[in-house]
Amino acid sequence: MATYYINAGQKMGKINKEIYGHFSEHLGRCIYEGMYVGENSDIPNVNGMRTDVVEALKEIRVPVLRWPGGCFADEYHWKDGIGPKENRKKMINTHWGGVVEDNSFGTHEYMELCRQLGCETYVNGNLGSGTVQEMSEWIEYMTFDGVSPMADLRAKNGHPEPWKVDFFGVGNENWGCGGNMTPEFYANEYRRYQTYVRQYGGGEEKERSIDNPELIRKIACGANVADTEWTQGVLKTLFRHCEPQFHGNADGLSLHYYVHPEGWEIKGSATDFDEKVWYKTLAKAQYMDDLIRMHGAIMDEYDPEKKIGMIVDEWGTWFTVEPGTNPGFLYQQNTMRDALVACITLNIFNKHCDRVKMACLAQIVNVLQSVLLTEGEQMIKTPTWYVFRMFREHQDAQLVNSHIETETIGEEEQYMVPSLSESASIDKDGRLQITIGNLSADKDYPVDTHIAGFAAKKASAQILAGQMRDMNTFDEPDTVMTREHEVKLQDGVLSFTLPAHSVIKITVEQ
Ligand code: AHR
Repeated sequence: MATYYINAGQKMGKINKEIYGHFSEHLGRCIYEGMYVGENSDIPNVNGMRTDVVEALKEIRVPVLRWPGGCFADEYHWKDGIGPKENRKKMINTHWGGVVEDNSFGTHEYMELCRQLGCETYVNGNLGSGTVQEMSEWIEYMTFDGVSPMADLRAKNGHPEPWKVDFFGVGNENWGCGGNMTPEFYANEYRRYQTYVRQYGGGEEKERSIDNPELIRKIACGANVADTEWTQGVLKTLFRHCEPQFHGNADGLSLHYYVHPEGWEIKGSATDFDEKVWYKTLAKAQYMDDLIRMHGAIMDEYDPEKKIGMIVDEWGTWFTVEPGTNPGFLYQQNTMRDALVACITLNIFNKHCDRVKMACLAQIVNVLQSVLLTEGEQMIKTPTWYVFRMFREHQDAQLVNSHIETETIGEEEQYMVPSLSESASIDKDGRLQITIGNLSADKDYPVDTHIAGFAAKKASAQILAGQMRDMNTFDEPDTVMTREHEVKLQDGVLSFTLPAHSVIKITVEQ
């Protein structure tokens, strides 16, 4: 039995919808085949974008989509991807599988995809191998509304209206694939490049903050995993000789963290694992909480008002690729274990919504911990897709204070986890939204919930449950899916049972 306490009257901050963001890179079959099939494809599409995929992504309310990478971003030259498709440069995607990149998906196609999804844009610029001028012209091409060489070129290519760039990444993983830089060197480069990422339309005078939608919010490259030396070095250099109102000229600082149960070299199978590996994986997912605290403490030194958002723009599981697939395509299946990793991580982000302002799951379709998988004209929803659908009501909701009594479970001392993971919020319609995961490999938990500050009248629940290794396949696409679940509301106490390895979402109305 677990006791759960929610104080709905105690608001802890807004859960930015961007925490539920996604990442799409020119990698394997993420963009090509996964989302973009071209106007002439037999697969139903609108302007080249797969209709089935767009519909499924709209259902989870994708709030923001990062593009074009990843490591690919620091090798991407945006002018290769504009103009008539037959004239676009063909190149080798050296990072990912050595395949031909024909640049048929470029800036216009990305903006069209975001239009169809109804989501915000997060473009990642090339600092590693591109020039300041190239980055500056890309911003001019996308956002300048008037007469200028780049705005004219955009119009010539069929789009006279400027687009809105909501977020712009100034480089990616510049400690590694983005140029192997030191934190100080990168931060100096960041200062220079971002100067020419112009805020056309008067944005230069606007207040710097990750929450100011009138700005192109600039994201600096943050740390890999626990590299606090990077965080310290970058922030120190950004804030040095910088007028206080410019606030380091950054609105966000990224963090990348992947869960590899068997470490980076071996990784481990996506589908074949035992209870020991189950707990190891979930303990590594739980580690996200420590990472946010350790990098957050450094950010607090420079930015106590929390105007710079922590942007976890790459997270998720990274397993060994499916047998028989191109190792450079990072294609992996997705089980109930991935669902729990998503549940744990999203609950952690919700709880840290004062600092974590955006997060992007890696990656949206057919790569790493995807929400959708495709094969030809077929598409399946993964267990992770269901978690994003269950959690979607947290988007832009108010986090409320909550605490669940847990026990510590696991099979190895260094990989113990709390039995339950939870968060609760009040959504835009005044309903209480609760999401809980049961991390146990074998134990069901009856839960009694005491809710203060909320006159609960009605409750309903959906559950995602199954065996640990359950997944959806192209032959059996509906093995894992949400179902209605029984909850009781009596004398102000909300009671239900959480089966082993399950995720539940409960909506309570007044
Ligand atoms: O998501 C795959 C890769 O992981 C990205 O390209 C890179 O940024 C990270 O190392």
